[in-house]
Amino acid sequence: MEIKGKKIFITGAASGIGRSTAIATARLGARLFLTDINKSGLEETVQMITAGGGEVCKHKAFNIADYNEVKSFADEIHSEFGSMDIIMNIAGIAVWGLVENFTHSYWQKVINVNLWGPIHSIECFAPAMVHAGKGGHIVNVSSAAGLTGAPWHIAYSATKWALVGISEVLRYDMMQHNIGVTVVCPGAVDTPLKNTIEILGIDANSEKMKNLKQRFSGHAISPDKAAELIIKGVEKKKFLVITSFDIKAVYFFKHHFFPVYHFIMIRISKLLNSVAAKS
Ligand SMILES: NC(=O)c1ccc[n+]([C@@H]2O[C@H](COP(=O)([O-])OP(=O)(O)OC[C@H]3O[C@@H](n4cnc5c(N)ncnc54)[C@H](O)[C@@H]3O)[C@@H](O)[C@H]2O)c1
Repeated sequence: MEIKGKKIFITGAASGIGRSTAIATARLGARLFLTDINKSGLEETVQMITAGGGEVCKHKAFNIADYNEVKSFADEIHSEFGSMDIIMNIAGIAVWGLVENFTHSYWQKVINVNLWGPIHSIECFAPAMVHAGKGGHIVNVSSAAGLTGAPWHIAYSATKWALVGISEVLRYDMMQHNIGVTVVCPGAVDTPLKNTIEILGIDANSEKMKNLKQRFSGHAISPDKAAELIIKGVEKKKFLVITSFDIKAVYFFKHHFFPVYHFIMIRISKLLNSVAAKS
């Protein structure tokens, strides 16, 4: 699907992949509808886009986990501008940890933002897209942790695997309406997420933790590159977009040579456990 002239709803537009995708789609001539919980970051994105001659039709800061907020923004948009052509669910948070450190409030927090968030967006925006009968596209940003049993990702993986499942069902349900679906599974992307990530049981300021973050940034792609791959996915109507080679390799091994995948997962698990033990 071509981006030019399309009405696009984007969550998580204040930072990282969401901001880069908003800016890149605006450059291609999209008409944007943006949201994020971070009001100042969202305003900054809007300014960056409008300064570059792009069009943000509407933006509003709220918590994507709050159904009433999403519904009211969707109603406002639909009454003024009609249905969206493209929905992009990008907002998310990262909390890692071993199951013994995952108290109920952490499970709730991750599931509320990473799973209920995209569900709210889909339930409030997709039916109007279907009823408009003009086709469209839905993008769900999952993760490498949505394709693998990545150690320490228990709650995060629960939401990201669910998003892969939702995307797969939507892929077939939406075909009859000419609405495409792309599920994006990034590996490491160098975004401000690395500063907000919570790793339960590990001191965020420990040397080991800093080393871990450096190692992450060392093989991460930029958010602009992730945005480019997302847009290409929409344009080419690609279902699965894996943004980095290492995750493509792990995914390949999982399906075609499981012992290698198993070995990699054990190595990651040992690495994280040793960081926890020494922090
Ligand atoms: N950065 C990575 O390495 C990586 C890897 C795999 C998947 N992802 C996924 O990519 C997506 C974007 O992450 P990013 O790396 O750009 O991180 P980021 O922190 O830069 O951006 C995430 C955005 O989501 C917003 N957000 C968080 N909670 C929200 C809420 N309750 N309501 C509304 N907005 C909220 C944040 O304010 C932020 O602007 C996330 O879904 C993340 O899980 C990121």
